[in-house]
Parts: sequence; C-alpha cells; structure tokens
Amino acid sequence: MSETQVNPVHPPRTAPTPATSETPDAAALDAADPLAGLRDRFVLDDDTVYLDGNSLGALPAGVPARLADVVAREWGELRIRSWTESGWWTAPERVGDRIAPLVGAAPGQVVVGDSTGVNIFKALVAAVRMAGEGREEILVDGDTFPTDGYLAASVARMTGRELRRVPAAAIADAAGPRTAVALVNHVDYRTGELYDAAAVTDRLHAAGALVVLDLCHSAGALPVRLDDDGVDLAVGCGYKYLNGGPGAPAFLYIRAGHQPRFDSPLPGWNSHADPFAMTEEHVPAPGVARGRVGTPDILSMLALEAALEVWEGVDIAEVRAKSLALTDFFLARVAETLPAGTVTPVTPREHERRGSQVSLRHPAAREVMAELIRRGVIGDFRAPDLLRFGFTPLYTSFADVDRAVRVLAEVLADLPAGSSYGPGA
Ligand SMILES: Cc1ncc(COP(=O)(O)O)c(C=O)c1O
Repeated sequence: MSETQVNPVHPPRTAPTPATSETPDAAALDAADPLAGLRDRFVLDDDTVYLDGNSLGALPAGVPARLADVVAREWGELRIRSWTESGWWTAPERVGDRIAPLVGAAPGQVVVGDSTGVNIFKALVAAVRMAGEGREEILVDGDTFPTDGYLAASVARMTGRELRRVPAAAIADAAGPRTAVALVNHVDYRTGELYDAAAVTDRLHAAGALVVLDLCHSAGALPVRLDDDGVDLAVGCGYKYLNGGPGAPAFLYIRAGHQPRFDSPLPGWNSHADPFAMTEEHVPAPGVARGRVGTPDILSMLALEAALEVWEGVDIAEVRAKSLALTDFFLARVAETLPAGTVTPVTPREHERRGSQVSLRHPAAREVMAELIRRGVIGDFRAPDLLRFGFTPLYTSFADVDRAVRVLAEVLADLPAGSSYGPGA
C-alpha cells in the first residue's frame, strides 16, 4: 500500500497533514536517499510503520532460506559432522569477526554467544579480576537498563566490591583510585542519549579504571570505534540493529591486549585451549575464544550470521547520516504537526548526543502507544511516560516517519476530551 492510500484496517480519522514548506518533503528525501534500496533486503509490509528495530530488528530476507538449509541439510543430513564440515564449531568467532567492523574492532576480538546479560557478567567479573586488589569499587550508570544494574550489584556482592550508581553523564569523573571498572552505556535505552565513548574511556583510564561498554543501542545504528577509543571490554545485542532475530545471541568484545589476562567467571569446555582433551583443569583458550562458555546455540547464531549479510557494501557513515536525517525529520514533523507542549522530546537535539531513536514524553504514553500500534505504527512504551521510536536506517523511510507523526497527531487528537491526558497535560 502506498503512503497516500488509506489503510482499510485502520482508516485515519482526520485528513493527512501535508508536510509544510518548513521541512523537506518525505518523498523528496526518500528519492535522494542512497540507502533506500536496502529496504528490499528485509521482509516488511507497507501497511505497518515499523519503528521498533531498537527492540527487535526486522527479518532480513535471506534468513529463512539459510535457516531452512541449516535445519534440513546441515542438521538433518550431515548431523554431527556439521560441527566441523559446516563450520558450526568456529561460528562464535566467525560471526564475531563479521560484527567486528561494525563496532570498529580488528578481527579476533569479538565472540558471539549467550545473552547480553551473561556477557556483561563475564566482562564485569573479568574486569574486576584484571583491576586487582585495592580497586574496591564498581561504578554503574544510575539509569541503566535493569539487567546491567542487577548484574553490577551481583558482581559487586560476589567479588566483595562496593557498587556506586552514578548518573551516566558524571560516571567518568566519578572514577578514582578505588575504582576497578565502570559499566556504561553507549546509548541510553530510554532517552536515546549518545555518550562519547572515547572521552569516557580516556577519563576512566586516567583514573586507572577499566570500562565495560554496553553497545546494545549503538551497534549497527552508528559508528562505534572500540579499537580506536581504547575500550577495554564491550557487549551488545544481536537482535536489535543487527537484526539477528528474537533471542539472537549477543557479542562480547575483548580487546586484544587484554585477552591473555581475561579470566572468565564462566569457564566451560568451549573456552578450553583443548576442548576435547577433557582435562580436569581449565586451561583458557588463547584469544577471544576464552569468552565462550558452552555449546553454541547454532540455529540462532547462524540466523544472525545470515542477517549480517544485509551489511554487504554498506558504509556505516552513511547509516549514521541517514539516522540523523530521519530523527531530525521526525523531530521537525513533531514540532510542526502537534500542538505545542503536547509531547516533550527527551532525546538530545545535538547530533553528537543523539543515538538512533527518539523518545517523547507524554503522560498517557502507555495508552497512546497501544493506540498507535493498533493503527499500524509500531514503536514501544517505556515506563512511566515515554513513547519510544527507533529508526533503522537500513529500512526506515522518510515516508514511514511522516506517516508515524501523522498517526500520532490523530491519536493524540482523539484522546478523550477533558481527559487529564489531553494536550498540554
Ligand atoms: C542496554 C541493554 N543492556 C542489556 C540488555 C539485556 O539484554 P539480554 O536480555 O539479551 O540479556 C538490553 C536488552 O534490551 C539492553 O537494552
């Protein structure tokens, strides 16, 4: 269905608002978009505006056939031979090397497997062990994703360290001679605020502390420069901007220079230097493989590997340029379409502080998002009052953005009259 056609399931209740002369026209922006053709690499339908790729990326078109082959041939016919003949055993490092350029890492430093949370645990404990005695404190971003906070508290308890929660913007300056490690987000999952990874890392290093960077909301959305920025350890999700599918395995970056000292709290036979020796003592594998634990989740991992093919020939700098253009366009359309004060953008306006999402505060955000979804605009709600919209430059169009704002305006206009949730409330 084209942008101008009426959705028969969810007809708009008011006439579409044309873009004013203040902002460029969505069609013109799409026509000039060098990445527009990449949308065909995904399974999407024109009835839905999908702005939730920061939660679950859309399905890359090549994944179903690849997974069918993995199941029918590699598992069904080759069975256990696939561990060697189909490259299953080395998939965690191979898929890691495929992610590496997206996060600014040279080969041999990224391993794929387990959930993000499990990798945060490995990285934090390993960092505390690397930092050594006298470094008695762990810092964590006070507004972090719950898992990160829970794990930091648990690791502090397990390792006999103290946990200090500090606002993200102040965390680097809070580090001192007692700090072992800080667990920090590259992009805040609620507000979409982007932090300067290089500056944070430099300040932590100046205090003698290590950094574990959570890349869940930046990997695949904007340039990440782990090697150049001197980041010690990092983790990220496979199912958001990397489009690996629900529950896709996460990744762990272990800086090459730290690998010999990376002492995993979860050693398994997969991270052993000689897994089939089956020795009593664990001898860590050389290199990033020591970040592995157990038998890799092959179906999910190979779905992620196939999903990463959408990056073929894609320049992450162009992805960033489009992401900023999409979010600029969204903010401009919100400002000119919604009555002043109806929603409050909480995502920074400065490009250098903005990730690839925009969050709008509204007191009835939960109800508003439910209605948006009912009308075919998929974002998400984050308690207590945020409407969260993710922009995936590989497949989000300017027409999507335009339509999302028009539907948002309609939903807000349709809120019950006199409701405390109305405009300006
Ligand atoms: C910033 C951040 N960190 C950690 C996680 C936890 O990821 P997982 O559920 O894969 O462990 C998420 C999940 O969305 C996240 O957004």
